[in-house]
Amino acid sequence: MKNSTKTGHSAFAEDVDKGLSSVPKYLSSKYFYDDEGSRLFREIMKLPEYYLTRSEMEIFTEQGRAIYEAFDPDSEAFDLIELGAGDGTKTAVLVGHLLEEGADLRFVPIDISSEAIDSLTRAFHQRFPSLRIEPEIGDYFARLETFREKSDRRKIILFLGSNIGNFSREQAVGFFRSLRDVVNPGDRVLIGFDLHKNPRTILNAYDDSLGVTPKFNLNLLKRINRELGANFDTDKFIHYASYHPIERAARSFLISEAEQTVKIEALGKEFSFRQWEPIFMEISQKYDLQMIEELASDSGFEVVRNFFDENRFYADSMWKPSS
Ligand code: AVJ
Repeated sequence: MKNSTKTGHSAFAEDVDKGLSSVPKYLSSKYFYDDEGSRLFREIMKLPEYYLTRSEMEIFTEQGRAIYEAFDPDSEAFDLIELGAGDGTKTAVLVGHLLEEGADLRFVPIDISSEAIDSLTRAFHQRFPSLRIEPEIGDYFARLETFREKSDRRKIILFLGSNIGNFSREQAVGFFRSLRDVVNPGDRVLIGFDLHKNPRTILNAYDDSLGVTPKFNLNLLKRINRELGANFDTDKFIHYASYHPIERAARSFLISEAEQTVKIEALGKEFSFRQWEPIFMEISQKYDLQMIEELASDSGFEVVRNFFDENRFYADSMWKPSS
């Protein structure tokens, strides 16, 4: 069985079991992105309050060339590897600039959603007919090791969209240290960070007026119903978003409005919820420049240059391995 573990349950089932058995309860936001969750996230990216995508798009539109120059290109071919490529809309803008500058590159998008990879590959073939694309479907954590053997060409590794925000500080350092282990001195990493700003602007991005973010969170309960035979009544949970300005962390919770019991067939278990008991769903960490510097140096990298949008809401930070 795919993804099955020692207990015979899927990794998903096991993680759900672990999270709902913990005090306080939690679920991992990495499971948000089944097909329905990916669709809802595309809706989030279009929300007026969700400034992150537009900010990064602005950076790529206005500064694609400067990003290429910061890479310090020689005339050699290089690999552009994107971790968690998603639909690739922003990356297409960056790739357009790189090709305009005469870059000789091979694009390697990696994503766990085969649907996302297929549509990205089609869109890129159409827009850049002569670009070499070598898509990979899978978990990019698991794929890191293969980078070493990949080629002796230089690499730019993209980790965009503030995806790093879903990592705790320890997870982020752990992740970049393993990345550090597989890159060569000439390689560069480009990471999208959402910056701290007016707390209300941040909170609104996770508490949108159209109610798409609640649906996005509740979809994980529905996914548990669909895939693990559970009976969550999603009308009995409300979404609650918060932003903590000292920790610089936005957090999402689903709160049980009533005392209730939920059965999960795949686990053969019931979980009870007290009235107003929260499930911690997601952290979206915000950064300032010092936090970015510290994260880089604690992970064995140094910041080459930060690229900002005009509002300074967001930064794409280019790193190189420190010597
Ligand atoms: C895809 C992790 C960047 O945290 O801003 C959007 C996911 N969650 N709205 C983010 C998300 C709620 C998003 N990332």
